[in-house]
Amino acid sequence: MTLKLEGKTAIVTGGSGGLGSSFSLALAAAGANVGVAFIGNPAPAKALVAQIQALGVKSIALEADITDPAAVKAMFNQADTELGIVDILVNNAGIDGVRARAWEVDAAKWRKTLEVNLFGAFHCAQEALLRMVVRRSGVVINITSVHEVIPWGGYSAYTASKAGLGMLTKTLAQEAAEFGVRVLALAPGAIQTPINQSVWSDPNGLADLNKKIPMGRMGQPDEIAKILVNLASDDSSYLTGTTVFVDGGMTLYSDFSHGG
Ligand code: BGC
Repeated sequence: MTLKLEGKTAIVTGGSGGLGSSFSLALAAAGANVGVAFIGNPAPAKALVAQIQALGVKSIALEADITDPAAVKAMFNQADTELGIVDILVNNAGIDGVRARAWEVDAAKWRKTLEVNLFGAFHCAQEALLRMVVRRSGVVINITSVHEVIPWGGYSAYTASKAGLGMLTKTLAQEAAEFGVRVLALAPGAIQTPINQSVWSDPNGLADLNKKIPMGRMGQPDEIAKILVNLASDDSSYLTGTTVFVDGGMTLYSDFSHGG
């Protein structure tokens, strides 16, 4: 049996993090070679690379600060020679940022969230698309959030970055379509990872969060990763320029479930 992503090369930014490690493993299980991009401590990325190699595909850890275009260029060049030319880019690296009202937040911290979530994704998309359009094949998947469309008090930088990434997705998709390249956004809801641990580890926080989700529970990373593999594969060959929300219904205004 041929696997869905046999022979493809994927790069996942934030590739050893909460959602990222599930993405990297699922892509590898579907047959792709995976570049695990990371910043900071190399240990989790190296451990994941070993786990991925055990599945019988190629994998390397790629260290890069995605807010720096020169570092991103160097990372893609390294992947070209050590892994293969990228077919699938997963722009997953992201930070929630500090919680503070817009008129109280430190502007440098606000800017940092935009630099990682939006500029970082842009720099990586630019390098990936340069390679994909000449080969007339490839997929860029930007991981946005339900906060692409749901405002979130205290997180104006995060919501602005994710809404921006949603529109960047559409525009890149429009530009790349004639070259046979697809660009998509995948928008998770509340998925149980370290990013929101302070909420789900507190019973009151978890109960409040669950009330915002029609399905009444948080999602698990593999519930997003399965969709990601599908979006990256030819099963989604006619899908581009749109956001796929995988959120247990979080974007459905659950307060309107009854009455109104
Ligand atoms: C954020 C999480 C949050 C979820 C739902 C995600 O984009 O990263 O911290 O739990 O949205 O609000």
